[in-house]
Amino acid sequence: MKKFIGLNWKMNPVSFREAKMLVHIAKKIKKHKAAIFPPFVFIAEIRFPLGNRISIGAQDFYYETKGAFTGEVSLPMLKSLGVKYVLIGHSERRAMGEMNAIIAKKLKAALVAGMIPLLCVGEPWSVRKKGRQAAEAYVKRQLKEAFKRIRLSKGSRAPIVAYEPIWAIGTGRACSVFDAVKMSKFIKGTIKVPPSKGKMTSIVLYGGSVDAKNVNSFLAQKEIDGALVGGASADLKKLRELAKVL
Ligand code: PGA
Repeated sequence: MKKFIGLNWKMNPVSFREAKMLVHIAKKIKKHKAAIFPPFVFIAEIRFPLGNRISIGAQDFYYETKGAFTGEVSLPMLKSLGVKYVLIGHSERRAMGEMNAIIAKKLKAALVAGMIPLLCVGEPWSVRKKGRQAAEAYVKRQLKEAFKRIRLSKGSRAPIVAYEPIWAIGTGRACSVFDAVKMSKFIKGTIKVPPSKGKMTSIVLYGGSVDAKNVNSFLAQKEIDGALVGGASADLKKLRELAKVL
């Protein structure tokens, strides 16, 4: 079954030349649906080399549509470039001070604008080490806060949630497949979208030190609908290895 592979380049690469090389490699992903999340500055230029098999996403945006918000980028701007997905609440942005109230505004704005939001949630190690229930309670709170302004109704577009435990991001220490499956099930059970014919309830990805070696063990699980890849998506060698197994 086709799954979703999000390639979150973060603040990489440092040149447009290398960005084009990464795009070239990402296009080799054949078995799954992929979306690249490049830094804003590359979006306009790389959308053409992307073709129509790979979508484009943004790593962030501002929830107002236009106006006096120096340095910000709005959803209509991104939409006009063909951006389809937007990341919201990535732990690196949360660490920079993005609060739950802002995340809730962004989630609402993205849905209103007709974008597909990819909401990131995940617990720190201090919570995970207390056990599964503590991790679930933490994630549940994040979901509750993020969805505060939203009422999902029958036929609502299935939200995408990326479970990214903070301790697994960029550490080389991925979550166990067992725990990722458990959390994915928990998230699906928490976000209750009234089922409508032919629609999935919610889509849950796993992210955190995903690479060529472990990606297929996550994708093989029916409860996990895809992966959000950071480090391994913005390095030429690692992306080449990853694309080979996807
Ligand atoms: P990582 O990052 O793959 O480098 O761990 C994942 C992410 O932050 O989305």
